[in-house]
Amino acid sequence: MVITVSASINKMETKNLNLFYQSFQALYDVNLPVKKNKVTALIGPSGCGKSSYLRTLNRMNDVIEGTKIEGEVLLDGTDIYGLGVDPVELRRVVGMVFQKPNPFPLNIFDNVAYGPRIHGISNKEKLANIVENSLRSAALWDEVKDRLYKSALGLSGGQQQRLVIARVLAVDPEVILMDEPASALDPISTSKIEDLIHQLKNNYTIVIVTHNMQQAARISDYTGFFLNGAMIEYDITNKIFTTPRDKRTEDYITGRFG
Ligand SMILES: Nc1ncnc2c1ncn2[C@@H]1O[C@H](COP(=O)(O)OP(=O)(O)OP(=O)(O)O)[C@@H](O)[C@H]1O
Ligand SMILES: [Mg+2]
Repeated sequence: MVITVSASINKMETKNLNLFYQSFQALYDVNLPVKKNKVTALIGPSGCGKSSYLRTLNRMNDVIEGTKIEGEVLLDGTDIYGLGVDPVELRRVVGMVFQKPNPFPLNIFDNVAYGPRIHGISNKEKLANIVENSLRSAALWDEVKDRLYKSALGLSGGQQQRLVIARVLAVDPEVILMDEPASALDPISTSKIEDLIHQLKNNYTIVIVTHNMQQAARISDYTGFFLNGAMIEYDITNKIFTTPRDKRTEDYITGRFG
């Protein structure tokens, strides 16, 4: 089957996006589509702006003093930095998973129920349903169903990361941003997360930052290569890894730098 870049819908898109931390410019004119129900991988050497870019997609940069953005970040065609957009609601729709699993110091059930409770759900049965469904979707249910009321901090690193994913799923997001979600995990946990990402893209749009070229090639449909704050090349993943157009992309994926 031949897929073309334009074939699927843009769930998100940035247009001429510039990002500044005080006077330091971290992103330069980034134009990038995020295709619906696909996995988009962001690759590039340390410090090139991948995390910064990811944070612009759900306004996590808002919480960093002195950041300024120019350009547009569209979600379903609407600018998320526009008037009337509630960042809290935005972060429900565009959820985020970080490199280090960050479960709350609560039991497993309360970790997953946390978001739904904040969004006003208090019915016990409804919460129990959401918790079970989210844990199932995060491929964790079978491992924790008998210890739901035990501390989440007692889970392994890989289980904690899947718990964090369940916590994101519990508030019914549409886009999931993942910043090196498996880089702190062992190979078996990593492969569980990769399988999970593969499952999740049926229902969600995923953007993942990874330093692992094999991982990007395995799990993503599209890849964007960043260098010094600029997006150098974006294409179907297979194309990026076999016949990149830009010499710099080729040098990076073949391990010549970074
Ligand atoms: N809060 C901040 N304040 C000032 N500068 C920052 C801040 N966060 C990031 N930067 C700078 O912006 C640039 C891009 O950083 P960013 O963390 O986005 O890179 P990255 O590609 O995610 O790197 P890595 O692969 O190491 O995680 C770097 O020069 C970094 O020092
Ligand atoms: Mg980073």
